[in-house]
Amino acid sequence: MSLAEPRPKQLTIALNRGRILKEFLPMMAAAGIEPTEDMGASRKLVFDTVNPNVRVLVARGSDVPTYVEHGAADIGITGKDTILEHGTQGYYERLDLGIARCRLMTAAPAGFKYPAGRVRVATKFVRIAERYFAQRGQQATIIPLSGALEVAPVLDLADLIVDIVDTGNTLKANGLVAMDSIAEVSTRVIVNRAAMKLKFDEVTKVLTDLSEALKP
Ligand code: PRP
Repeated sequence: MSLAEPRPKQLTIALNRGRILKEFLPMMAAAGIEPTEDMGASRKLVFDTVNPNVRVLVARGSDVPTYVEHGAADIGITGKDTILEHGTQGYYERLDLGIARCRLMTAAPAGFKYPAGRVRVATKFVRIAERYFAQRGQQATIIPLSGALEVAPVLDLADLIVDIVDTGNTLKANGLVAMDSIAEVSTRVIVNRAAMKLKFDEVTKVLTDLSEALKP
């Protein structure tokens, strides 16, 4: 590299662990970003990649927008559900990767009908649920839970839930029926606002390579 050439600026990409990470890894490899070690076999959270200008961070889904909003990560890979819940301050949503598709839905025991008064809603998507029931004009008490939501109506902790539905097997196994769809969910690429300006070339390269990897 000659002195005249600007030095590439290293990017940090925050990856949503779990199903999104599993589905994203082959796409990331096709875009030339492969971790230099097996991420599943390590307790480390930050990994170098074969691209010296890119390192990756594995994070809990709900933390990915926080890392990107504050610039601790330049790019984040996470679900539309997480973005809707977090809000879009501090970053841009730039690409729909079309993986880890599912729906955000309401679900309840069979035969459930909305009462005239208040309903109790168990969810980890508190803000989404608040907005949804406000729009419906339905009074709702939101009961925040971080997992195993499906059991809440069974134990009479809530009348219904707002949760991710993929195959529908979890609902079925717990005697619940999907009702209304709140949002279609898939994995998105988000970019920190400052990084979009200050690391424009590097960010654009990753977005372009990922777009290419999406092509059949
Ligand atoms: C999600 C969701 C449901 C399940 C739905 O949980 O909260 O429990 O998937 O999938 P299904 O319709 O195919 O049964 P996930 O396994 O992602 O774990 P989480 O509770 O950590 O979000």
